[in-house]
Amino acid sequence: MIELTAANKGVSYERLPVRVSGVAVGYLESASGRGKHREHLFRYEPAISERLAVSLNMPVRAQPYTYEGIHPIFDMNMPEGHLRMALMNMFRKAVAGFDALQLLRVIGPYQLGRITLGQKRDKPMPGTSIQELLVHDGAQDLFDDLLETYAAYSGVSGVQPKVLVRADSGGDVTRLSHRGATHIVKAWQANQYPELATNEFFCLRAATYAGLDVAKHELSSGGKFLIVERFDVAEGGYLGFEDFCVLSGKVSDEKYDSSYEACARIINAYLPVERRARALQELFVSVALTTAIQNGDAHLKNFGLLYDHTGVDADIRLAPAFDLITTTAYLPKDHMALMLAGSKNWPKHKLLYNFGRISCGLGEAQVAQLLELVADGISKAAAELRQHMREADSFADIGTKMLSAWDKGTMRSLLDDKRRWVSLANV
Ligand SMILES: Nc1ncnc2c1ncn2[C@@H]1O[C@H](COP(=O)(O)OP(=O)(O)O)[C@@H](O)[C@H]1O
Ligand SMILES: [Mg+2]
Repeated sequence: MIELTAANKGVSYERLPVRVSGVAVGYLESASGRGKHREHLFRYEPAISERLAVSLNMPVRAQPYTYEGIHPIFDMNMPEGHLRMALMNMFRKAVAGFDALQLLRVIGPYQLGRITLGQKRDKPMPGTSIQELLVHDGAQDLFDDLLETYAAYSGVSGVQPKVLVRADSGGDVTRLSHRGATHIVKAWQANQYPELATNEFFCLRAATYAGLDVAKHELSSGGKFLIVERFDVAEGGYLGFEDFCVLSGKVSDEKYDSSYEACARIINAYLPVERRARALQELFVSVALTTAIQNGDAHLKNFGLLYDHTGVDADIRLAPAFDLITTTAYLPKDHMALMLAGSKNWPKHKLLYNFGRISCGLGEAQVAQLLELVADGISKAAAELRQHMREADSFADIGTKMLSAWDKGTMRSLLDDKRRWVSLANV
């Protein structure tokens, strides 16, 4: 696991160098206050190019950026929930006054994406055979082994167990010159969310059939892992990625405090004008799909923008869809993660229609056509899901719950005339 080296046992006051695409652009340090309310300060080095800003919201400037807590862009890839608590507790036992900045110092050198904090990484990441992972997932200990190898390299957010790995052969990404992670391996806890990887796999299938751009993904043969190819890997390094939480000026804890209408406003605010219409259409399809498959986890961290740099001529676009799950298969009373028309209840068709027309600027015929596309996509994925249930007994229970959720969600949110829907139990 992560080691506490002498360097990690620093005093509470410290400065963390911040790099963008390997270039030292500034530093982060703690200022006044205590605990959650401790202020942090980020300052750019002199003469940094505007293309190397740490965030779209923090352009290069002479005065420092102060923030109560850790600035959202640096908080973005921190582990969340009990994973974060467990790590903090582990370190607090060993180091008095261990705080969020110290945690960043430990995981910062190996964070996901174009920004790294703390020491320069010295060792290249070890490689893993994705092919082997896909086939040999029966062994209980394999994920533990992966954690063992990769924990120190895994600055990646989220609540479910996951590691960043580097493929050592095959696939397009391994031809790249840099030595960072290429894939995210997502596992699940059997006692809490059984068959989560297979659940996500079929939700991603539905998204693909609904016409969305989706992160490339594969399910291991025993259903233990979902292996997702990183969409922020480019020829010479990593693309910029900022989730909608950061773009709303919020930290991870506030990921449920917003609305899908606000997501549409983010697209209008940050994307170049020629990219907006397409991105708003994708957002609409994504929200429609989320309501139809009853994905109660589509919060601000599960949408993001990708860009090559932060200069005036930056090419900023919507990131592919990721992290789609039918959450009502586990929590039957679950509701939406963000508000739509002022409520988190699963919306009726009319509300979704209004969202498409007003917030996403779509025409009447376009809304109808896109909703049909989503319903068709769900039917296609449902047929595959049913086939998979016949082959994998362990998935029967969750699979049945998913189909019933998709039926309910589609009828409530996508269709204005319920009679046109053939129940998924019959596909
Ligand atoms: N394909 C991908 N490429 C690059 N970054 C990704 C990709 N998928 C997820 N991420 C990043 O990793 C984070 C965690 O992944 P996610 O699939 O959302 O896991 P969880 O189910 O735990 O929320 C995301 O919030 C996003 O920042
Ligand atoms: Mg997520």
